[in-house]
Amino acid sequence: MPATSGYGHGYATIGNMTPWLAAALLIGLVVAAPLRPGETQRSVWDGVYSGEQARRGQELYTKQCVGCHGSALQGTHAAPPLAGAGFLSAWSGLTVGDLFERVRASMPPDKPSSLSREAGARIMAYILQANDFPAGKTDLPQSTDALQRIRLEAIKPNE
Ligand code: HEC
Repeated sequence: MPATSGYGHGYATIGNMTPWLAAALLIGLVVAAPLRPGETQRSVWDGVYSGEQARRGQELYTKQCVGCHGSALQGTHAAPPLAGAGFLSAWSGLTVGDLFERVRASMPPDKPSSLSREAGARIMAYILQANDFPAGKTDLPQSTDALQRIRLEAIKPNE
């Protein structure tokens, strides 16, 4: 019966190809994933802010944050620290974008959502500097998307 055997043959062929197709797709995904444009990840160890930006951030911090978070970002009875091991371990694995959004949405507590993107980025630069992350040549970006691509890592990742 030619019709039946033809069908059977075709079916068997597709059945045999499936694992190969799956393997090819999987390899394709693994190889392509890190190469997608715009998805390059940096971390706070890569010199992601400038010294000048951090200096401007310190001015803002001194006006709007120091009273609660302390002059060395060590925290006070009124607010938690923004520098040091406890702060870093809480934020490690998240991104500078997450911290930026957190601050812009809720700080200072009496005027939430009052910080501009520029001011927020400057304050991020100052917080990174106070946590001993290296400065670089360019400013931190001001877009949440770009900041989401910069990981906060308490411990320097292996190159
Ligand atoms: C009136 C006191 C006060 C001021 C001023 C203030 N904060 Fe806070 N901040 C707090 C308190 C209290 C918390 C903890 C409770 C909360 O998260 O709302 C906090 C939490 C935070 C956190 C989260 C810390 C963590 O590890 O979860 C960040 C970041 C932060 N503040 C940044 C800032 C920045 C930047 C400014 C200045 C623009 C600022 N704060 C001004 C009181 C203050």
